[in-house]
Amino acid sequence: MQEEPSPKCAACNDPEEEKQREAFVDQLIAEHKSRPGALIPILQAAQQEIGYLSEATLKRVGEKLGEPLSKIFGVVTFYSFFSRVPRGKYLIRICLGTACYVRGAEKILDAFKKELEIDVYQTTPDRMFSLDVARCFGACGLAPAVMINDKVHQRVKPSQVKQILAACRKKESPVRA
Ligand code: FES
Repeated sequence: MQEEPSPKCAACNDPEEEKQREAFVDQLIAEHKSRPGALIPILQAAQQEIGYLSEATLKRVGEKLGEPLSKIFGVVTFYSFFSRVPRGKYLIRICLGTACYVRGAEKILDAFKKELEIDVYQTTPDRMFSLDVARCFGACGLAPAVMINDKVHQRVKPSQVKQILAACRKKESPVRA
C-alpha cells in the first residue's frame, strides 16, 4: 500500500503545468476511449508521462470516461505499479519474493535505504530515486533481483548498491566522464 500523497510541489501547483497535464489526459482518453478496457492503459500512459496519478488526473479520467471516481481509485489502489505520489526518475524496486528473500533481499533493501536516506515508497528530495518493493520479477534463478525502471539487475549484492546508484547519477550528469 502506498503512502498518502505528500504536499504538492511547486510544479504541481503551476497552472500552466496543470493545463498541459489536462490536455495530455484529454488526448489520451480521446485515443483510447472507444477500446474495451481502456481505463488501465489510460492510467498507465498518464503515469508514464506525468510521473504519478494525482487526484486531479484521476477526477479528469473519471469525468471523461463517465466512470465513478470510486472505481478509478479502486483500480489505482489495486495495482501496485500505480503511484499516487510523485516518483523519482529512477524507480528502484527490490524483490522480496521467496527466492530473493532467502538470498538476502532484505540486506539489499537496507543498503538502498541507507544510501538514499529514504524509506520504502519514498522519493529522494531531488526527485531522482524512489524506493519500492515487489514480489518476483520472474528472475528467481538469478536472485536476488532489483528492478530499476524496466531493467532487472540480477544477483545483486549490498556492496554493489553504491555503484548502481552512481551509474544512474552518472547518466544524469551533464558532464559525462
Ligand atoms: S522471487 Fe525475486 S525474482 Fe522471483
